[in-house]
Amino acid sequence: MSGARRRVAILISGGGSNMMTLLRDMATDHPAEAVLVVSNRPGAGGLEKARALGVPTATVDHRDYPDREGFEAALTAVLEPARPDIICLAGFMRVLTPGFVRRWHGRMLNIHPSLLPKYPGLHTHARAIEAGDAEAGCTVHEVTPELDAGPVLGQARVPVLPGDTPEALAARVLEMEHRLYPAVLRRFATGDRTPVFLP
Ligand code: GRF
Repeated sequence: MSGARRRVAILISGGGSNMMTLLRDMATDHPAEAVLVVSNRPGAGGLEKARALGVPTATVDHRDYPDREGFEAALTAVLEPARPDIICLAGFMRVLTPGFVRRWHGRMLNIHPSLLPKYPGLHTHARAIEAGDAEAGCTVHEVTPELDAGPVLGQARVPVLPGDTPEALAARVLEMEHRLYPAVLRRFATGDRTPVFLP
């Protein structure tokens, strides 16, 4: 790859399985490189995994701040020295304020476990099963001030099977998340916003 690689920071809250697929892909011939992983939860499993791959990590515990603005100011103070070009939300469970989102407009991505615009928010798999949907899936989108509503950069579909529990469906969707997010980031990091559709 010619030219400077885009610098990517990843925000997590938990185990970081999506984060790991991005880090592993960026460890190959890739237009971007991971420069930082930040968690809002001390001790999140993903932090240790990132460190094991030699990626710098940081924790900004949202519980240490009286409000979102205070948390986000601390988050920005950790992010800015890493000079990220792109921010990937990967299982990051804090809702960001419009002010913070605008600061990173057009360069912050999120993965959501539904076929947006269906089922923004939580409990996506239970809602798809309850509705009797034949298909479910996941979406990578640009983050905008409206929750889970930004331009779609990629989607992957899976069947909803008879007798599916939310857990079984979540596991099937997570496998596709692990394929979709790296594919989208690899394309997005070249400046190409053409959506990726799997399978
Ligand atoms: C994923 O299903 C993601 O779509 C959702 O949270 C889950 C977290 O997974 N936002 P992980 O932390 O990346 O393993």
